Amino acid sequence: MKRIKIADIWKDQRISGPVLVKGWIRTLRNSKHFSFIELNDGSCLTNIQIIADNTLLNYTDVESLTTGSALAVSGTLRNSPGQGQSVEIHADTITIINKTPDSYPLQKKRHSDEFLRSIAHLRPRSNKYGAMFRIRSHVSMFIHNYFQNKGFFYIHTPVITGSDCEGAGEMFRVSNIKPGQMITQNGKPDFSSDFFGKETNLTVSGQLSAEMFALSLGDVYTFGPTFRAENSNTSRHAAEFWMVEPEMAFCDLTDTMTIAEEFIKYVVKSYLETCQEDFSLFSRFVDTELPHVMNTILSSDFERISYLEAVNILINSGKSFEFKVEFNSDLQSEHERFLSEEYFKKPVFIYNYPKNIKPFYMRMNDDDQTVAAMDLLVPNIGELIGGSQREERLDYLIKRMKDMGLKQEDYWWYIDSRKYGSVPHSGFGLGFERLLMLLTGVTNIRDVIPFPRTPGHIEF
Ligand code: 4AD
Ligand code: MG
Repeated sequence: MKRIKIADIWKDQRISGPVLVKGWIRTLRNSKHFSFIELNDGSCLTNIQIIADNTLLNYTDVESLTTGSALAVSGTLRNSPGQGQSVEIHADTITIINKTPDSYPLQKKRHSDEFLRSIAHLRPRSNKYGAMFRIRSHVSMFIHNYFQNKGFFYIHTPVITGSDCEGAGEMFRVSNIKPGQMITQNGKPDFSSDFFGKETNLTVSGQLSAEMFALSLGDVYTFGPTFRAENSNTSRHAAEFWMVEPEMAFCDLTDTMTIAEEFIKYVVKSYLETCQEDFSLFSRFVDTELPHVMNTILSSDFERISYLEAVNILINSGKSFEFKVEFNSDLQSEHERFLSEEYFKKPVFIYNYPKNIKPFYMRMNDDDQTVAAMDLLVPNIGELIGGSQREERLDYLIKRMKDMGLKQEDYWWYIDSRKYGSVPHSGFGLGFERLLMLLTGVTNIRDVIPFPRTPGHIEF
């Protein structure tokens, strides 16, 4: 008999009769003539109840099983007379695939996120993390669906790069040279002897590569892992995270904000339609405001204000922030959260940032002081998206690189793209983990990542 998933039982009410399920025991309760087993196979949150009769040949083994043991159960699916479930399986045979010892680390009580993070293989067996990683999978798909439906092409941009997209220097170096064996010249490392013949790093963003393809395929996106050696041990930064980066030819900053808004609304709508059961876990036990936050995103027009307006609002707010608000400096997370959470009470785009706090590739505005950048700030998270219109004018780009002290030879291929059919183009990067935090109400980025990497932490 073919195994069916427990999720299919709950999805398709017509399934009845003989079935085979396999999964892990969540709880087992013995009564006089039979045992009740709550079985879960990871396909959904709700367990299936198994009735194990004491007439089973191996009943004495079955009744002594404990949480975590793996079983194959064949039996009959039928309406349940009991409370709490519509159907149950009356077992004909129960095969014990693996019996856990009594020392199973997960108890029935709720465990802390820190504790669960320390057990790689059992964390996703808890209700919360099972739900989290099913959601993570679904939301990845919604992202692809949105762009694919709109005719964007998915470009696999490289993980190993020779350039620093954001110019922030927060990169992990890639090398195959053994420690201590790097050749040096005048005390400086000589990368010509390294694997690629030059200094190479893990990418901080796929943008520059995506731009090359937008200038030929039109609308493209990349969605993959990015790496940042920011030593900021915050609840919103990870050293390895995933970024969604659409890049669109013939598109300006305003168009980009419109697409970003439509994209987020599409993802939230798909999420609420598809992940109802897992969403309900987070809205009941993690953040009871979640339905309200989701409704706000779906029903509101996102605010759009300039950086100048944002700073004025912050200065006139009368709030005492830990970090002082100053023109020409970056907004801190507390400022960003104030704007979206308390002031506008909805997502807000901030655009036209001062040039001195933004990377070289952003398009210079006519005032020569600000660039066509935008960030999307959302309640509970702060910055969810960072994007811009790119500098498509060759002379402006070169001037800006000079002003910022960047070596043109390091970016010759990028500069080249502004020579032959350069067109206005724009794009943005959305932090996938921050999106998951927004969708689930989870406040620590580590808890939306299967194997989180943060400063000092890389156990598995
Ligand atoms: O604002 P950022 O640095 O923008 C870029 O990298 C652009 N090249 C993107 C583009 O235009 N194609 O990063 C984009 C987003 C941020 O808004 C944030 O959500 C997320 O990536 N992010 C991080 N998420 C988790 N951990 C970190 N250390 C992150 N750094 C950025
Ligand atoms: Mg940013």
